[in-house]
Amino acid sequence: MADSLSSRRSYGSDGLNKGVWPNPVPGQLITASDRFFTRSHAPVPVIDPDTWGLEVDGLVERPGRFSLTQLGRDFSEHRVVATLGCAGMRRAEFLDMGPLPGELPWGPDAASTGRWSGVGLRDVLEAVGVSSRAGHVEFIGLDQVLRLESTFGFGGSIDLKKALAGDVLLATHLNDEPLSPEHGFPVRVVVPGWIGARSVKWLGRIVVRPDPSENYFQTKAYRIERTINPEAPTDVSGGVPLAELPVNAVILDPKPGQSIQAGPVVVLGWAIGQGGSGLAAIEVSGDGGARWVGARPTAGGEAGVWTFWEARVTLAGGPRELVVRATDVGGRSQPATLQECWNVKGYCNNAWHRVRLTVK
Ligand code: MTE
Repeated sequence: MADSLSSRRSYGSDGLNKGVWPNPVPGQLITASDRFFTRSHAPVPVIDPDTWGLEVDGLVERPGRFSLTQLGRDFSEHRVVATLGCAGMRRAEFLDMGPLPGELPWGPDAASTGRWSGVGLRDVLEAVGVSSRAGHVEFIGLDQVLRLESTFGFGGSIDLKKALAGDVLLATHLNDEPLSPEHGFPVRVVVPGWIGARSVKWLGRIVVRPDPSENYFQTKAYRIERTINPEAPTDVSGGVPLAELPVNAVILDPKPGQSIQAGPVVVLGWAIGQGGSGLAAIEVSGDGGARWVGARPTAGGEAGVWTFWEARVTLAGGPRELVVRATDVGGRSQPATLQECWNVKGYCNNAWHRVRLTVK
């Protein structure tokens, strides 16, 4: 019998990535684990939890190796609700401007919210004693990614300030169950408010460094480069490394291409501020951005967690464009057009989200 999940996957033929349904389901603040998006750059590694250990070294006073039992026994449990968003979310909209070779055409579904638990990164760093020369914390996964003819563990880093902020988790559980293999069993990092790529799965090693990670996924991918180099059209190594996700807002319902009756319409969606911050305004337009109404937050909105919202607009017959835009508590707003945020690998599309409808 065909696996019902994989048969509904929109682009999962490599077995690595799941863009399953419009995600999230309006009203479900926490994404069910089997609907949680996945993004992996290599096959899921098979890890024996009994022999697994987390190496912590680099600029620390007491380098160490922690077994799963030690992590659970020596550190207190931390719980964090956090929205994980892939930097590739909403990339597909950029395809109207031209191809993005080798990049997955994610829609808005590459974001999900989980109830994570595990141990605090800050507690582990305090246990090993961070040197005063430290500036960044690198995470290295146990998967084996092939890039530029070499094989290595997926990795990346965050700055020490975020690492010690208290919200970064070495998670063992998602939604009160042990992590599934595809979400990083037995231990993964969860960095609330940052691009998903820094939330390294199948964590094997933490290195405290003076400077950012030199891993491929820090130096050659997940960087914003706005100009194509004609000699190397997909090279973004000269760009700016991604860290916090920008303010963003998405319409979940009605759906693109839907045909609806003229009159009052309820519009549903989610939004989140830069770095997972809260929102000052969410506005919806039923006429392509000429007039706006305020949306009402209905759930969520805590630090690192998306806000669900609802708005009512009145639509006249004809082809119509619904639009949403948000401004966060730091005063950061979204660009109106795709042109303003296009970049070579199509990361962090936070242009106003537009949904075209036919209104009868
Ligand atoms: N960690 C490892 N080891 N390997 C990976 O390929 N993918 C990253 C990140 N952590 C990845 C990884 C990316 S790009 C994203 S968006 C998130 O994991 C996705 O996490 P999820 O699959 O649990 O949703």
